[in-house]
Amino acid sequence: MFSELIKRPRRLRNDNLRDLVRETGLSIEDLIYPLFVVNGENIKEEIPSMPGNYHWSLDLVVEEIDRLVELGIKAVILFGVPESKDERGSTAWAEDGIVQRACRRIKEEYSDLLVITDVCLCQYTDHGHCGVLEDGRVKNDPTLELLTKVAVSHVEAGADMVAPSDMMDGRVGAIRQALDDSGFNNTPIMAYSAKYASSFYGPFRDAAHSAPDEGDRCSYQMDPGNSREAVKEAALDIEEGADIVMVKPALSYLDIIQKIKEEFNYPVAAYNVSGEFSLVKAAAEKGWVNEQEVVLEMMLSMKRAGADLILTYFAKDIACWLKEK
Ligand code: PBG
Repeated sequence: MFSELIKRPRRLRNDNLRDLVRETGLSIEDLIYPLFVVNGENIKEEIPSMPGNYHWSLDLVVEEIDRLVELGIKAVILFGVPESKDERGSTAWAEDGIVQRACRRIKEEYSDLLVITDVCLCQYTDHGHCGVLEDGRVKNDPTLELLTKVAVSHVEAGADMVAPSDMMDGRVGAIRQALDDSGFNNTPIMAYSAKYASSFYGPFRDAAHSAPDEGDRCSYQMDPGNSREAVKEAALDIEEGADIVMVKPALSYLDIIQKIKEEFNYPVAAYNVSGEFSLVKAAAEKGWVNEQEVVLEMMLSMKRAGADLILTYFAKDIACWLKEK
């Protein structure tokens, strides 16, 4: 009696067929795991607002990396939590800085692991801003030179790729030039292109001790109300030599991921940030959501929007779940 119903999408929703026609997939190769490294020895300190994530001293981080490699994780991004800070953030480019030492140590033992470094100053400046502060203002152009020093020092220490997250104008071009001048023209740049001034970074700032003393990051990070501006930012970064463009945060910005993917023929990274991670962890702890199911669904949504790679604190969990499947 329903003979008029010729098109029935449900025909494809049965078991194996449903799997066969799925448009988007998630694999361990898509994921980058963030690691927080600190000076000292014998330190494995859990970050309270980010369960399962730790501050690692270099003697112990190798054990964690053993686990990551075993799980099939192929890339990490390093965040340094330095012992001392100053006005300009000089430990960010020190040869014996925490990230530089971590790169040397990790690449020595795991030459196949892709080591990416976050290039920024906020963990290293005593005021907590991502650039040079003068009269209460973050100065753009004087910051560029410092960022180039940070990037070159990371690559000299063995980093495979640098990821500038400061949001100063022109930093990708400045870093590209500096890397090329130092003989690193094969080292790619993953630019935090559309990085929003987001409240979802809260747990990370606890973890990295990088919250600004005064003011906020609104004069350099993007306004959450803007999307066309994200395309402009990505276009500038690509023009300046970015190899991968990133959108951050991910979940509340899936439209931006999609827009940038459609606009440019470039790999797009999505940063599933600390606040997005902690929300799920907290709800799962309370038994309000099924952690595995919501996380995999979130990841799929980022891939579906157009992300080629995902930076996520869930990478270890996901690797386990994918293995079990
Ligand atoms: C440094 C930086 C931040 C994050 C990555 N790099 C914090 C910020 O901009 O305040 C956030 C990552 C996260 O929340 O997981 N500039």
